[in-house]
Amino acid sequence: MSEKVDKSAQKTEKIPEKSVEKTEKVEKETKTEKAERGSKADKVEVVEKVESITDLEGVGPVTAGKLTDAGFDSIEALAVAPIREVADKANLESSVALKVIKAARQSMQLDFINAKLLWERRQGLLKLSTGSGNVNKLLGGGVETQAITEFVGEFGSGKSQICMKLSITAQLPKADGGLEGKVLFIDTEGTFAPQRIHQMATSIGLEPEKLLEGIYYSRAYNSDHQILIIDRAFKLCQEENVKLLIVDSVLSHFRSEYIGRESLSERQQKLNAHLHKLTRIAQALNLAVVVTNQVQANPQAFFGDPTRPAGGHIMAHASTHRIMLRKAAGGLRAAKVIDSPYLPESETFFQITEKGIEDAQPKTRRDD
Ligand code: GTP
Ligand code: MG
Repeated sequence: MSEKVDKSAQKTEKIPEKSVEKTEKVEKETKTEKAERGSKADKVEVVEKVESITDLEGVGPVTAGKLTDAGFDSIEALAVAPIREVADKANLESSVALKVIKAARQSMQLDFINAKLLWERRQGLLKLSTGSGNVNKLLGGGVETQAITEFVGEFGSGKSQICMKLSITAQLPKADGGLEGKVLFIDTEGTFAPQRIHQMATSIGLEPEKLLEGIYYSRAYNSDHQILIIDRAFKLCQEENVKLLIVDSVLSHFRSEYIGRESLSERQQKLNAHLHKLTRIAQALNLAVVVTNQVQANPQAFFGDPTRPAGGHIMAHASTHRIMLRKAAGGLRAAKVIDSPYLPESETFFQITEKGIEDAQPKTRRDD
């Protein structure tokens, strides 16, 4: 943007070479024009320079304090938040919440964008390597930023192993399939193992301590805690250049706390808001969100897989890409795209090794 501003300023400085007499007038004109444009440019600059929520129109110190306490401490976090959530969490009148959100959106020019900009945004999308060429290919190059990728599967299918491996690769240079950023690992089951990260890193010749330092770890003890962590994650992700946010596993607390039909709708409502927040973080900060999920019995399945991902429609809609993992013969793991807007539904194989995740080929009968 500042480039554009500079260009317009340059334009106004160009003096038409028609007549020398007119030069003075022209100069005058250009000066006023320049002043006008200058003020426009300043406005653009001011808009661009809005960095803190206190710079927004209608945000005084009290409102700023409330917003900060509620986790809406940056323009980006505010601009993408629903009005009701801001009003509820920051204890503000809806009209005030609306006003500050509007101001934040305006400063980020979020309300209407040209589809070209959308296309350009997509060009900024990055792909994160899983360590397995097969799985990368399945994912269309790797785990995408600006999206939620869900790995779903039975126990021991490799979900947490993939998450740990991604925590390493995310920190690598882009040329090596990384995102050159840090990682926020939200662990709901207490299965994150630093020693495993250490082992994976060492076995591929990387410095384990440095990589462990690049992972922010947070143990979520219940669903409310998990929600709170994500409410606060925006700031950390933005300030610390977090490029991968993992929730392993996203549903376990919700499933164990909300039992029975009568609490299902409350659970789904909370889950919905939680997942939407994850999507907004992914899109606003161009980072990859990876969540894991378990399978549950599907009593309606007469044919095929008797299991299905937990979380119902809410979970299905929130995930951009769903990858089903399963244990296959010979200790291998199979990964299959089960739902994605643009990835074909194919299957591939990988194995869990000392290095983390690597390609594998299932043995055919002929090989035996
Ligand atoms: P749940 O969280 O229980 O639902 O399962 P998950 O899908 O997260 O499973 P996880 O990723 O923890 O995979 C566990 C499997 O990984 C184990 O059964 C082992 O087969 C394998 N595994 C774990 N650590 C190692 C290791 O250091 N070396 C090798 N070769 N395999 C490992
Ligand atoms: Mg696990």
